[in-house]
Amino acid sequence: MQKTLVFATNNAHKFQEVTDMLQGSIVLLRLKDIGCEADIPETAGTLEGNALQKARFIYDNYHVDCFADDTGLEVEALHGAPGVYSARYAGEAHDAEANMQKLLLNLQHETNRKARFRCVFTLIEHGEVHQFEGIVNGTITQEKHGKEGFGYDPLFIPDGYKETFAEMDETRKNQISHRARALQKLVAYLKEESK
Ligand code: IMP
Repeated sequence: MQKTLVFATNNAHKFQEVTDMLQGSIVLLRLKDIGCEADIPETAGTLEGNALQKARFIYDNYHVDCFADDTGLEVEALHGAPGVYSARYAGEAHDAEANMQKLLLNLQHETNRKARFRCVFTLIEHGEVHQFEGIVNGTITQEKHGKEGFGYDPLFIPDGYKETFAEMDETRKNQISHRARALQKLVAYLKEESK
């Protein structure tokens, strides 16, 4: 029987991205499918802590197997910033455009443009916690390129490519992204476990 898991996210774009990556291998439920309209707290201060906090909230309140993720863009010259604060780098408005402008400004005189997206998935299954990490290394451009994707995609060129995430079609991004890498580990774990 196919595994059913709740994906604890209110980000419709991300839910679709993960649904596409799973290619039907898991039945994925939205928060609204379990009647959850809560604003899930995310106050831990690390990607691991936030992903765990979100999954734990769902598991404790709804008693269903679930997973949650947290992602940050970690820029070498900025000592890992914006990191866990990526969504609200330029303020609580979670404005992607403002976040990108702030990043470009902070890197204005910087020649080291190395950065990475790091994603952590936390799975809680039968009360047990498992974490999976996915990383994609790359560089930050001098200006925005492309219209696809979301967040910092127009500024990030993954290593081995010439175009930003926002210039790639979704299928390509979903093959190589931090989220894809973490999710592949989660799916591999579930497959191994069901043998
Ligand atoms: P979240 O934990 O997945 O919600 O990610 C936090 C923030 O990191 C987002 O609001 C985006 O600014 C950024 N981010 C996460 N994943 C991506 C991505 O795939 N491309 C670009 N930005 C991303």
